[in-house]
Amino acid sequence: MSGAGLEAAKSMLAAVRRLAVLTGAGMSAESGVPTFRDAQAGLWRRFDPQQLASPEGFRADPALVWRWYAWRRELVAAAQPNAGHLALAQAAARFSRLSIVTQNVDGLHQRAGSREPIEIHGNILRSRCLAECGAKYERPEDLPAGEPPRCPDCGSWLRPDVVWFGEMLDPGRLLAAEEVVTGAEALLVVGTSGLVQPAAGLPAQARRAGVPVIIVNPRPTEIDQIADLIVTGTAAAVLPALLGGMAARGVG
Ligand code: APR
Repeated sequence: MSGAGLEAAKSMLAAVRRLAVLTGAGMSAESGVPTFRDAQAGLWRRFDPQQLASPEGFRADPALVWRWYAWRRELVAAAQPNAGHLALAQAAARFSRLSIVTQNVDGLHQRAGSREPIEIHGNILRSRCLAECGAKYERPEDLPAGEPPRCPDCGSWLRPDVVWFGEMLDPGRLLAAEEVVTGAEALLVVGTSGLVQPAAGLPAQARRAGVPVIIVNPRPTEIDQIADLIVTGTAAAVLPALLGGMAARGVG
């Protein structure tokens, strides 16, 4: 972990009351949640990502896609929030507002105690009706049987409530994310490569709105050039050091 970057980031955050946090796959790496690409291991290696995570792939073989998501849900269920997730959840009390925007679909921010992160890529534990009749299932154990299950309301397939290749992000959620990052006094960007749009554009939007950007990542990213500060290190090592032991901030 880089000491100089960490100390500078701590002093920057000392005056901040409204903090926004953007997280990506690296946030959950130390929880053992495989990234989308890592998850294509073993048995699944022979499938193309478009087959497993696109509307066309699902229509071509719904059972295959459903099984892949069922397997990933098991991996997520077995994972635990790491010290980085917990540090963010605990730090919420020290800011007047701490808002999390996440690209992760694993629900680990909520399990760590963070309230209502904006999940711009959806959540693997939720399912919804493919035909947009509006039916949603919040818990995998509530799902009707079948591969994939049928929507009890309209008989269409149920699909995971995540954003697939070729799909638009939910416009309401993206707008909420933009408002959070541009309305904050600082933006912390944790564990994202800055390669996948439109999430990768959020730090630049914040910067244009005059919000200082701090990146936490063990490796260089595509968006390092727009950062005011870079703390080199992992989420579970840096976030407790950065956010732990801060004095409570007044409401403002
Ligand atoms: N702590 C912090 N960052 C880490 C850690 C760690 N322990 N381990 C790896 N990283 C960093 C990597 O250096 C990299 O910059 O996490 C980043 C992961 O990059 P990606 O896999 O590209 O993840 P992300 O930016 O979230 O990708 C966006 O792409 O696969 C799709 O929809 C999926 O939400 C995902 C999106």
